[in-house]
Amino acid sequence: MCGIVGYIGERNCVPILINGLKRLEYRGYDSAGISVIFDHDSTVVKNKGKVSLLENKIENLNLSARLGIGHTRWATHGAPNELNAHPHFNAEKNLYVIHNGIIENYQTIKKGLQKLGYEFITQTDSEVLPHLIDSFIKKGNSLFKSVQLALGEVEGTYGIAVIYENEPDKIIAARKGSPLVLGIGENENFVASDVSAILAHTKQIVYLEDGDIIQVYKDHFTAKTILDKEVEKEVHEITMSLDEIDKGGFPHFMLKEIMEQPESIRNSMRGRILFDEGTSKLGGLESVADALAGSKRILISACGTSWHAGLVGKYMLEQFTRIPTEVEYASEFRYRNPIIEKGDTIFFISQSGETADTLAALRESKIRGALGLGICNVVGSSIARESNAGVYTHAGPEIGVASTKAFTSQLVVLSLITLLIARKKNMSLVDGKTIAGELSLIPDKISEILKLNYEIEKIANAFKDAKNFLYLGRGYNFPVALEGALKLKEISYIHAEGYPAAEMKHGPIALIDEKMPVVFIAPKDSTYEKIISNIQEVRARGGRIIAVASEKDNDIDKLVDYTIKIPDTIRMLMPLLTVIPLQLLAYHIAVKKGLNVDQPRNLAKSVTVE
Ligand code: M6R
Repeated sequence: MCGIVGYIGERNCVPILINGLKRLEYRGYDSAGISVIFDHDSTVVKNKGKVSLLENKIENLNLSARLGIGHTRWATHGAPNELNAHPHFNAEKNLYVIHNGIIENYQTIKKGLQKLGYEFITQTDSEVLPHLIDSFIKKGNSLFKSVQLALGEVEGTYGIAVIYENEPDKIIAARKGSPLVLGIGENENFVASDVSAILAHTKQIVYLEDGDIIQVYKDHFTAKTILDKEVEKEVHEITMSLDEIDKGGFPHFMLKEIMEQPESIRNSMRGRILFDEGTSKLGGLESVADALAGSKRILISACGTSWHAGLVGKYMLEQFTRIPTEVEYASEFRYRNPIIEKGDTIFFISQSGETADTLAALRESKIRGALGLGICNVVGSSIARESNAGVYTHAGPEIGVASTKAFTSQLVVLSLITLLIARKKNMSLVDGKTIAGELSLIPDKISEILKLNYEIEKIANAFKDAKNFLYLGRGYNFPVALEGALKLKEISYIHAEGYPAAEMKHGPIALIDEKMPVVFIAPKDSTYEKIISNIQEVRARGGRIIAVASEKDNDIDKLVDYTIKIPDTIRMLMPLLTVIPLQLLAYHIAVKKGLNVDQPRNLAKSVTVE
């Protein structure tokens, strides 16, 4: 989950690396470092903490070089301190490596190198790489060959970039399991974990595949595999703009991304709803649409917020297509020998398209012959490329670690998929048209809810010191309760749990007292009366209640402490609306607590390690 960036060209690489690292900070931010090579000399600068601290440190050094690499770290092995920060280097301090991933057999490699006299100064797995590469160089190999040979001994995952004082005309970069792209410029080239780091300089991108290793010179590159086979790489012109990944005047990316949702979900549905036919058109699924509709069973595999979207998807798919649908954490799916049979379709949902567990689950399912379909936001990401077919959510870049607009765009795509399958099976034209029509109204309804921002901020103020929160919802809104709780805990560090409302009496009710805020998701639907009973139960025990309720519901106000009134829609689309106030509530509580909303502690945007 670390971020890596490299530059070779004619400009001073230092500001390019620092700016690239700032863009990559969402991947990890516990330490950062750069190393640069100039006139057959080199230096490395590292710092604990965020990239801005590294930048301050570098400012006084007057550094200038045309070749360099940089890294922002999310610690896996070894404490997040300056020593363990990347780049790591050999004893002579003339060869530098940055690494994203985990070297699983690092202990074995380390012991072997120690026997040869290599000394280790960090607690990281990554430090074996410069020493191992160095050991092959000392046997007379070129840098490229040495990296190839070293990676041949490594088990685990990596996206790496290597520079060496004695071959100062190149960066060597390689990937297995961790994302890496090459950016092509005019007399300059870049490597990075993702395009956001280099978008200010180029839109010409080459995506590395697992097993690829490249030599990047300032004016060309060559590509092979770790096993030394030639590979052809295609250059892609990407359309993303820098504006799309800037904060655009908002104090935090998270708020910007919450506010963007009317537009982001318009983009998710643009050109995909066939109103007259009451169905959807998803180009990426056309080749598999019949197989999909004929599925005996649908599985959905994902992590975190994407898993919550999957749960909503299960409710939609089972209600309208009558295809049994199961949802499983990708991390569980891949390790428990899941039952996959002929006729099963598996969706892999991932904003980043790089989540290690989800990617591994996709690979496992393909080995077993299942139809693996991706629902991803990041274009060209590993899951998007490796799935048999799929749909992009088109939410635009999501930078805030807490996922918001990616979730709602996933829900839109899942409803379009449901519509597609259901209309191919037994859904009537009238019902199809109703869903299509309601879907198209959602962006405006979200805009209405976003106007409640200030009101929700006031509620946040009243609850910012709470130690625990309970989120309760039924049916389609049970996954929303889980999502609301996840948003709160990840950015405000308040313990929060989501439950199906009716389950409360089987345990969580014991937690209720006057200190326990309970958020009820209680729109006027078929379970409304039941949820009102649950509200009464909490009220009777002194719990403080916030209700997300239908705008026409005048009765609920007297039962609860705070109400957030939202427009109605059909049940399957209700999560697209009910989740919005919960995102805002979590956001404002975290801001009021003075926390780093976009980069909460211990987390990273893209979890590319197991
Ligand atoms: O990129 P992905 O959708 O695969 O990421 C999955 C989770 O890591 C992610 O949703 C995580 O739970 C978010 N921080 C939630 O806000």
